[in-house]
Amino acid sequence: MAKNILISRGLSDEALPLIPKDVTVDLNGHEHSLTRPELLARLRGKHGLICQITDTIDDEVLATPGLQVVCNVAVGYNNIDVAAAKRRGVVVTNTPDVLTETTADFAWALLMAAARRVVEADAYVRAGTWTRWQWDLLWGQDVHGKTLGVLGFGRIGRAVARRALGFDMRVLYHDVVRCAPEVERELRATYVDKETLLRDADFVTLHVLFSAETKHLVDERALRSMKKSAVLVNAARGPIVDEAALVRALTERWIAAAGLDVFEEEPKVHPGLLGLTNVVMAPHIASASLDTRIAMSTLAVKNCLAVLEGKPALTPVT
Ligand code: DGY
Repeated sequence: MAKNILISRGLSDEALPLIPKDVTVDLNGHEHSLTRPELLARLRGKHGLICQITDTIDDEVLATPGLQVVCNVAVGYNNIDVAAAKRRGVVVTNTPDVLTETTADFAWALLMAAARRVVEADAYVRAGTWTRWQWDLLWGQDVHGKTLGVLGFGRIGRAVARRALGFDMRVLYHDVVRCAPEVERELRATYVDKETLLRDADFVTLHVLFSAETKHLVDERALRSMKKSAVLVNAARGPIVDEAALVRALTERWIAAAGLDVFEEEPKVHPGLLGLTNVVMAPHIASASLDTRIAMSTLAVKNCLAVLEGKPALTPVT
């Protein structure tokens, strides 16, 4: 039977030729996401959906007759009701692995920028304020030799920890499951409880999946328990941090700085963050390198085609 798929938003061009001619593609070529009525209407009669984190894939969407597979072009899938998909027999896939290293690179970019005040320094130079060399200008914090705390020690958390070896850092990690001793040895990482991690780390970087359990994992209490010199990095999902509490923490200097790629109500950013110099912000671009976007698009397309051909998905969400 001929297959039809909907691509809810532009993918990397390189991935499209993988789709055989006998599969009909309905591609939203616009910059903006489909509205909900548009998504529901255009999904009618489709067997596969390739979607982005901005698409809410709930039970109503998943109830589309004939829908077999939903492929998120992201590793995170908190935009999809996976339990409903299971109930309805719709396969859900994501794009793990291909974005691990790029996302870890970017978490480090935020960490370094926040620690060494790169954005403030750039603004200072551009504003023409730099009229003479100054001994006490824009002092930041050392990164090398310090303690990195990784909350969430999956693929990305471990890739972030691996980079810390080059900075001769002590690595503390916490996760719901402790990893194998050989991984701890390789990464020179020590398993601790969340409280110890928050208390002892100079840099706290978040890499947990977002779920009801991890919403506001970093709340006022957590922020108050961190070092006054600590830097918080979030390249996972915004709601893992209580953003209002973070604004207070940065304003009242419970912690020193933050590097944020994600926000509680994207694309809205808490207005309290916008005026602060001790926060470095990016518009959810941690995996946004050319190569990685191509790899994510390609994997999503391959997942979709595999399921439509009756084969197992390459990277199903289980
Ligand atoms: C992901 O993969 O989950 C990113 O946040 C979106 O690119």
